[in-house]
Amino acid sequence: MANQLCIVLDFGGQYNQLIARRVRECGVYCEIRRFDTPLDEIKALNPTGIIFTGGPNSVYDSASPHIAKAYFDLGIPTLGICYGCQLMAYTLGGTVESCEKSEYGKIDITQSEDSLLFTDVPAESTVWMSHTDFVSKLPEGFRTTAHSADCPAAAFECPERKFYAVQFHPEVTHSVFGKQILRNFLFHVCGFTGDWVMDDFIDNTVAALRQQIGGKKVILGLSGGVDSSVAAALLSKAVGKQLTCVFVDHGLMRKDEGDFVEETFTKLFDMQFIRVNCQQHFLEQLKGVTDPEQKRRIIGTEFYNVFWGKIRETGADGFFAQGTIYPDRIESGKGNAAGQGSTDVIKTHHNMVAMPEDIHFAGTIEPLKDLFKDEVRAVGEKLGIPRELVWRQPFPGPGLGVRIIGEITEEKIRILQEADAVFRDEIRKSGAEQDLKQFFAVLPDVRTVGVMGDHRTYDHLIAIRAVTTDDFMTADWARIPYDVLARVSNRLCNEVAHVNRVVYDITSKPPGTVEWE
Ligand code: XMP
Repeated sequence: MANQLCIVLDFGGQYNQLIARRVRECGVYCEIRRFDTPLDEIKALNPTGIIFTGGPNSVYDSASPHIAKAYFDLGIPTLGICYGCQLMAYTLGGTVESCEKSEYGKIDITQSEDSLLFTDVPAESTVWMSHTDFVSKLPEGFRTTAHSADCPAAAFECPERKFYAVQFHPEVTHSVFGKQILRNFLFHVCGFTGDWVMDDFIDNTVAALRQQIGGKKVILGLSGGVDSSVAAALLSKAVGKQLTCVFVDHGLMRKDEGDFVEETFTKLFDMQFIRVNCQQHFLEQLKGVTDPEQKRRIIGTEFYNVFWGKIRETGADGFFAQGTIYPDRIESGKGNAAGQGSTDVIKTHHNMVAMPEDIHFAGTIEPLKDLFKDEVRAVGEKLGIPRELVWRQPFPGPGLGVRIIGEITEEKIRILQEADAVFRDEIRKSGAEQDLKQFFAVLPDVRTVGVMGDHRTYDHLIAIRAVTTDDFMTADWARIPYDVLARVSNRLCNEVAHVNRVVYDITSKPPGTVEWE
């Protein structure tokens, strides 16, 4: 490891990975370690700086995570954030109390003293606070450098020992100068040089994967989505043909997508690639089924039946790899290295797959587990994955199954694939693509009367959907220019057999969802 190292010491806060990501954004290599990592181990890692994360506890709770006082004799520059700030004060002899009034949300702070931490930060600025305890008395040798209306020690420090503490969260974007404050700590206090780039992540991960995998085999379920594709490319770089990717093609992908995935991974990357073509099997299972939840269940269950069946055939004599990324772990409640239980289970994510009991791998490998989506994309681009795949929109696991309302038939899949391809083509040509987070066609179970030439038609309606959103929790329908919509409508009715009407979905989320089923 040639890079300087920053350790994020995890006390159970929900933003631990966000801190790590901000540090990486500053070009500093960063590792998250549990709060109870032995001091000898920390010393041996020789970090240039350490950041204590926040956490859900009070320093006075018997179960709260603590750190030995001896830590502060190691001479490592340290920044305590929120709980980490209170812990630093408490451990060094200060006093922590419950606030009369909790501070939550955007709060203005005022600097009272010059501080390296506030270099290029205005004397008054807005930060994000979320705390019910506060530091009421500083340890000896410390001084306050900023306060808010309700928090007398919003920032304090002992610059002689390079100990800094902030009650607020500089890592979240609501703290307007938060990134500058982190930069100041890293570069001005610790003396990091910013010697880490994404290439280093790739090199380090490849080296670690080679060491972990040795001569064993690795199996990865490849969906053609961004995460599993990047994991596949990384593993391919690490172990080449020891990697087998299993791609289950359920026939509910977009037009030509299955072929594109196969071509990409067989031509550009060194690996064993297995495509399981089971379109007919899925159609049989879905025959006559119209209930959306039942369709989802069937597609999900059959997908894994096919996948595990293939694994049994191939043999599970090695490692099982998954394209889990950090947000998947938060959603599954596993994002908390300190195990303090603050990150509650929100939903079990499709990337965190439960293994059948009869399948025994030597271990699981998740090379992207600490990265955020945009970091995963950056790695993917560096590894040479085509832009089309790296910048792919989200695509639901059940695929076109949730965009064909009513029974799914071969003909409906064909109509929807054609229609979707035309819509995407027009959006791409119009230049509107970059403003849209997701756009696709839907085939409602509706036929309407139309006229073509001198003939009456009674054919399918296509709905088109395009949304703008930051996080998919809420979304707005996109204001696509009328002339683009006109071209789309024209082409859909002329080029896609059995389509005679087009509607544009102008529902936001809520009350609608992005998908129709
Ligand atoms: P909704 O329809 O819930 O969609 O507003 C929000 C986002 O999630 C995607 N989505 C899914 N992704 N499996 C997935 O991997 C699913 O079952 C699924 N359902 C919806 C949807 O495409 C949108 O981006």
